[in-house]
Amino acid sequence: MIPLEPYYELSDADLDSRIHAAKHALGSDCVILGHHYQREEVYKFADLTGDSLKLSRLASQRTDARHIVFCGVHFMAEVADILSAPHQTVILPDMAAGCSMADMADLPRVEAAWKALGEVMDVESLVTPITYVNSMADLKAFCGEHDGVVCTSSNATKILAWAFEQRPKVLFFPDQHLGRISAFSLGVSLEEMVVWDPTQKNGGLTPESLRQARVILWDGYCSVHQMFQPAHVALFRARHPEIRVIVHPECSFEVCRLADERGSTEGIQKSVRDSPPGSVWAIGTELNLVNRLKHEMPDKEIHFLCPTICMCSTMFRIDAQHLCWTLENLVAGTVVNVITVPEQVAGKARVALDRMLSIV
Ligand code: 13P
Ligand code: SF4
Repeated sequence: MIPLEPYYELSDADLDSRIHAAKHALGSDCVILGHHYQREEVYKFADLTGDSLKLSRLASQRTDARHIVFCGVHFMAEVADILSAPHQTVILPDMAAGCSMADMADLPRVEAAWKALGEVMDVESLVTPITYVNSMADLKAFCGEHDGVVCTSSNATKILAWAFEQRPKVLFFPDQHLGRISAFSLGVSLEEMVVWDPTQKNGGLTPESLRQARVILWDGYCSVHQMFQPAHVALFRARHPEIRVIVHPECSFEVCRLADERGSTEGIQKSVRDSPPGSVWAIGTELNLVNRLKHEMPDKEIHFLCPTICMCSTMFRIDAQHLCWTLENLVAGTVVNVITVPEQVAGKARVALDRMLSIV
């Protein structure tokens, strides 16, 4: 294996030209997928870009490429492995690119919650488990096994609507904010939702409150999106009365309610791109995406909806050095950082992912 360290001695220009050359040498044997939060020096090399839903679909469609280099975070690469063909390998250029929200729920604790719910109600017939795609593969498998489903930020409301057609209650993990705003938009009141704290016995909830709840929200969140505050929305509205505020649904309920629109990373891009020249926007999502839109559309006034920098540090781990190292190893015949979901997990997770893809 070619070692990584020497790549940190290279200039930006050298890295660029070596990535270009390696991509050229690999040709259609390798496809680079890039999430919208990737830093520019990596994003510009992506063959295909998207939000989690779009990238999931793309991963299942590019069967011509033997290697899928995923510039994103770990759970995304796992989904690509689950949905891609058996002859394909999925590579994450830096194995430390995780998602802190995905780490807030794990199989032992979700199974413990399911068991505890089973002690106060007929959980299998009353509750549909829904996992946000930002979760580990074994939680997707849990949903596959229990007639549940996966959702993404762009389809959570539709998926919840589907779930309520199946059973009266939902256990939604790990992102309480996405679950809350999506359920609320379907007419579920805040009084009908409870938050399950996995560190407490019975989630810190009484049997009575669990029996009454329609939505049980896992106590997880994205710390990046919690940086956007209601006061920031008020500040921008005071400064620019014509402004449109658009936020990612991982933001708090209050911020989502105050915004004019909310959308996935792909949805945010589309709304801002489709707006007429001269439009004024404040965007509540990761900084790299907002900066890219600012740069791309100088005819619009685009503000970052937070006075401080808020970036996803794990997305940022994928740098040009890791990308160059990954591709040059591939050219030399060595496949580094392969993401493999064991088939006994992947099979069940595929059930929950395919169910999502058939609903939306
Ligand atoms: P999207 O599916 O909207 O791209 O969101 C992924 C994510 O991790 C946002 O924090
Ligand atoms: Fe995870 Fe938040 Fe980063 Fe998205 S922005 S990958 S939810 S930590």
